[in-house]
Order: sequence, then structure tokens, then C-alpha cells
Amino acid sequence: MEPTEGARSFLTSGDAYDRYMGRYSRTLAVAFADEAGIDTGRTVLDVGCGPGALTGELVGRLGAAAVSAFDPSPPFVEACAGRHPGVDVRLGRAEAIPFDDGRFDAAMAQLVLHFVSDPSKAMHELRRVVRPGGTVAACVWDFAEGMEMLRAFWDAALLVDAAAPDEARALRFGGPGEIAALLLEAGYDDVAESTLRVSSHYSGFDELWSGFMAGIGPAGTYCMSLPDEQRAALHHALFQRLGEPVGPFSLAALARYASGRTPG
Ligand SMILES: C[S@@+](CC[C@H](N)C(=O)[O-])C[C@H]1O[C@@H](n2cnc3c(N)ncnc32)[C@H](O)[C@@H]1O
Repeated sequence: MEPTEGARSFLTSGDAYDRYMGRYSRTLAVAFADEAGIDTGRTVLDVGCGPGALTGELVGRLGAAAVSAFDPSPPFVEACAGRHPGVDVRLGRAEAIPFDDGRFDAAMAQLVLHFVSDPSKAMHELRRVVRPGGTVAACVWDFAEGMEMLRAFWDAALLVDAAAPDEARALRFGGPGEIAALLLEAGYDDVAESTLRVSSHYSGFDELWSGFMAGIGPAGTYCMSLPDEQRAALHHALFQRLGEPVGPFSLAALARYASGRTPG
């Protein structure tokens, strides 16, 4: 399978991803599963699982045999399968989900929808693999305000390069009502939305900067595309933007959440 546009910047190791974004995904997974009401006795699909932050949370709640997962990035599929033995982890994308009809009680997409090239098709595919009356839930960072790490990065990038591809402008589903509207358009019932709040702790600015230097996702890809001089200017602007931290600090992150029930 050729990597899609959205998956191309995620052809990286699970460990590198964890140092950059997985540090947020792990705690977000707890809040996401709580909000979706995931408890024992259910079968759940992790959509765009990455190296498996949400998969791990689901395994803890439901057991490995009740959890399945897929992602278009081969190194992430390998990492997720290696970390969570007994979970059925497959290579695939949300527009053509590699599982049978009506197979799951719920499907969950954590930080994925904004990378999917055809979100309407994905919503119909999710409706296909989840049984009638089941749950489909998704969450995406609020790029405009709530995700401090990405907001600070893009604010700094815009100071250095007015044409920087700020995710708040370039990507969908981070604003209020956007995921809910997609679910409603696809015919889901009982659509509800809310927000999820987490944070991550850094030992210092170098730890934060090394995450961007791994070249992961839109921010990392942009950072590594810059000539050395401009990247140094971005480093300086980001350091200033964060108040020139000399020691440890934490950054907050807010994700937009919505869920719906598959019609039956
Ligand atoms: C920010 S990561 C989130 C990974 C994981 N869900 C987490 O919370 O850590 C985005 C993920 O979406 C995956 N992705 C990109 N395009 C996709 C598509 N069309 N269908 C499913 N997943 C996709 C990427 O490969 C990547 O693993």
C-alpha cells in the first residue's frame, strides 16, 4: 500500500513518535476512552492507531482479544503489534477499513481525522464496521488555541516565515462543531461533543525542540524543510514565545471530541 499524503510524515519509529506526540497521546487516550464510555465487554477498533497509545489503554480496559487496530504507516503497525501482543493490528486506511462489516461495538479515531484525505468516506466506512447502535468517536487537537505545543510552534514559525503552513489554517476538525457536523452529515444518531484536556511535562527546552527535529507530522516536516539559518531563527522565536524557559515546564493541550451512534 502506497502511503497516503496524510501518512507520509508518520513513517517513523514508535519511540521517536512517543518523544514528540505520543507523550500527549497516552494521557489523551485515558480521557478519550472515559468520554466515549468504554468499559468491559465491548469490542473496539482503534482507527489510525499509530504506535498504539489508545490501543494500550483499550487493552487495559477490555483485554487484547477485544481490541483491533489499523494504520497506514508500516513502522507504526509494527510498533503497535509489538507493544500489544494479541491485538489484531493491520495495515490500512480509514477510507477503506481492512475489517468486516458490523464487527465492532465501537470505533475510535484519536488525532487522525485531520490527516484523512476523504473524511466523509471514512465516516461511512466506520459506520460499516461498527454494528447498528454502536459508537463512533473521534478527537482532534484544537490547533487555534488549545494545543500549546503546536500553537507556540506555528506562532514562532509565522514570525520567521509568513507563509508557514499553520495547522490551524491548513487542517480541519480542530474547531468547535466540526467533528459533530461530519458525524451528522454521515447520518449518525445522538451526536454529542465536548473537549478533552491533558498536558505534558518537559525537562527543558532542548527536549521540546528535539521532538520537532525528528521531522514527524506537519510541524516536524516543516521544521526539517527549513534551511539551517531559518531553522535557527525558528528555534530562537519558539524559545522566546515560551518565555525563555531555563528549566522544566509543562504545556497544556485541548482536543475537540465528538461521538455518535450508528443508526440501526
Ligand atoms: C497524530 S498520529 C495519531 C496516532 C495515534 N492515534 C495517537 O493518538 O497517538 C496520526 C496518525 O494517523 C495516521 N493516518 C494518516 N492518514 C490516515 C488515514 N487515511 N487513515 C487512517 N490513519 C491515517 C498516521 O499514520 C498516524 O499514525
